[in-house]
Amino acid sequence: MKALVLSGGSGTRLRPITHTSAKQLVPVGNKPVLFYGLEAIAEAGITEVGIVVGETAAEIERAVGDGSRFGLRVTYLRQEAPLGLAHGVLIAREFLGEDDFLLFLGDNFIVGGVSGVVSGFRADPCDARLLLTQVPDPSRFGVAELGPDGRIIGIEEKPRRPRSDLALVGVYLFGPAVHRAVRAIAPSARGELEISDAIQWLLDEGLDVRSTTITGYWKDTGDVDDMLEANRTVLEGLEHKVEGDVDADTEIIGRVRIAAGAIVKGSRIVGPAIIGADARIVGSYVGPFTSIADGVRLEDSEIEYSIVLDGSSIQGVRPIEASLVGRAVEVTPAARTRAAHRLVLGDYSRVRIS
Ligand code: G1P
Repeated sequence: MKALVLSGGSGTRLRPITHTSAKQLVPVGNKPVLFYGLEAIAEAGITEVGIVVGETAAEIERAVGDGSRFGLRVTYLRQEAPLGLAHGVLIAREFLGEDDFLLFLGDNFIVGGVSGVVSGFRADPCDARLLLTQVPDPSRFGVAELGPDGRIIGIEEKPRRPRSDLALVGVYLFGPAVHRAVRAIAPSARGELEISDAIQWLLDEGLDVRSTTITGYWKDTGDVDDMLEANRTVLEGLEHKVEGDVDADTEIIGRVRIAAGAIVKGSRIVGPAIIGADARIVGSYVGPFTSIADGVRLEDSEIEYSIVLDGSSIQGVRPIEASLVGRAVEVTPAARTRAAHRLVLGDYSRVRIS
């Protein structure tokens, strides 16, 4: 059995972060989302992994390398344009051969891994096995309709009027019949070859499509709120470990991870929170569910329920919450002359000002 990880796409809902960085590499708990998926694949006993990459190929290849760090053998497959998930399967035809495979969307985040479903599929294979989960907002996803006997009778991609609240999780198991399906379907209204349409094709052909409904935590980390939620979930499981330099004027409460090389002075850190290597936190408050990446400078500031990426600097700003701050960003207060906001914002930025 192989795995195919889709890491193309342009991450429009995470702009402007994704103008300069692949969405699969945005970290939660100071580790890229994609790495959690690769670890789960390795843990399920799969070693041959194809990663479909698009315009952020170089960055993903730099981060993942040959996969040996995860115990994987990685082959990169170049997708010329983001033409859909089923198109990712289409271009992986040669790599996949006639093997069964796990299709994993690189921006999906699953707590509890995929070992259970993978071993279930190995023991009792079929043409496709889908993972479903109940969601409050099914029209954001592919939605499955089940018959009275619990078998799948139909799949619809982002339906305006969903027939159930069971969303397709971005993890699928396929046998080789799916290759015929991805060749047979036409692009959807959004111009993509949809994996949901390929699955519907398998159903229409009378092939054996089954599903497993999962109740564990799952997030498609498509937008900032999703990222912050995934970050919160990772930090829930954080183990307390302080390796950095923490002075006597600092108060640490709850489970906090402070990496070696970090310096914390005169601050209050309330866990769960993680602070990366070589970060410098001075006279500040870091509240629950915050991930501060390597080399970040935080001075005279307050932040909670947020993610701050490498090398950024926040000085004299309080309070900050529910924020995603990119790499090498500078945040400073304006001189208190007039109550006016002065902004330099990139294209597609989203800003909330109270
Ligand atoms: C894709 C699939 C959708 C699935 C979702 C899970 O959506 O098309 O069926 O429910 O992933 O993350 P997309 O992220 O391309 O909008």
